[in-house]
Amino acid sequence: MALTTELGRQLQLREVEGLLLQAATVDNWSEIQNFEAKPDDLLICTYPKSGTTWIQEIVDMIEQNGDVEKCQRAIIQHRHPFIEWARPSQTSAWNICSPCNTCITRTFPPDFKGVEKANIMPSPRILRTHLPTQLLPPSFWENNCKFLYVARNAKDCMVSYYHFQRMNQMLPDPGTWEEYFETFINGKVAWGSWYDHVKGWWEIKDRYQILFLFYEDIKRVSKSPSEEPLSGLCFWEGYPEEFKCSNVMLPSPQDPKHEIQKVMQFMGKNLGETVLHKIVQETSFEKMKENPMTNRSTVPKSILDQSISPFMRKGTVGDWKNHFTVAQNERFDEIYRQKMEGTSINFCMEL
Ligand code: A3P
Repeated sequence: MALTTELGRQLQLREVEGLLLQAATVDNWSEIQNFEAKPDDLLICTYPKSGTTWIQEIVDMIEQNGDVEKCQRAIIQHRHPFIEWARPSQTSAWNICSPCNTCITRTFPPDFKGVEKANIMPSPRILRTHLPTQLLPPSFWENNCKFLYVARNAKDCMVSYYHFQRMNQMLPDPGTWEEYFETFINGKVAWGSWYDHVKGWWEIKDRYQILFLFYEDIKRVSKSPSEEPLSGLCFWEGYPEEFKCSNVMLPSPQDPKHEIQKVMQFMGKNLGETVLHKIVQETSFEKMKENPMTNRSTVPKSILDQSISPFMRKGTVGDWKNHFTVAQNERFDEIYRQKMEGTSINFCMEL
């Protein structure tokens, strides 16, 4: 996995406790593991490319009572510290974004670690992670924190991750699509196996304060009003009644704010219809793609090269169909069945 482009591609993934991670994270592992969570922390948890930025913006809009200006106070990477993030030691000059006057970036040294940012943040804190359950700093469990998990179907996640690794100079070059297909299904990507990650969080969701959401469900409710409603999106076998996909439970008409309302209630907030409507609008893919605080346009090209693939790429459900061959799809489905056997999750990948 060692590659040799000018800056990031020298970086190799390293293994810690059976999980592949960026080397800088592994170097700071004990500090990350000793991170002290607080009882009123809310942790946003995702496997990479599952809509983390999207749910962060939704959560922040809820937290700020729908005040767009307040959500513009900083780039999204700084609003919710990424607890396992550390500056790659191989890079001599690291700037997560260009200096600007509107963003709180200037108050952080450019190479501040995620845990350092979190430590100086006033409570109640909203933090984020891609870590699987078994590698989360134990204090999160000890303090019975709230966790907001977003899962996205594996095929779309793989496609999104592939394009992300093409443009992200801090991750190994993904190689060809065929090569990446193997890498992904074998869990040889940063943050490991999609299957283990999603299963791990799903299996404990009733034991802790975990709100488990699906990208596909949020997509359904956040699409622009001009789009036709999606139908038959998913079938949640064994899923708790109150969380069942309303496409199945309530074929029509849809409540467009269903998932956002769940997040709001989970956060203990009570916002009116007008504010919820505004949140739906402001967190649409189109809006977030144009928003410099969410679209990563402030990150230098030497780190995220958006001329290769934009960070806000397509934001759709089912883009895997434009990438998977028939043979890859059949193979994937078989592997998926084996790996997910025994779980009650049924992702809607057939769209
Ligand atoms: P695609 O690459 O499929 O377009 P993450 O934030 O976890 O890295 O996830 C990135 C993925 O979420 C990208 O998927 C991105 O386009 C998508 N995304 C971000 N904001 C979105 C939004 N408002 N609506 C739908 N998808 C969004």
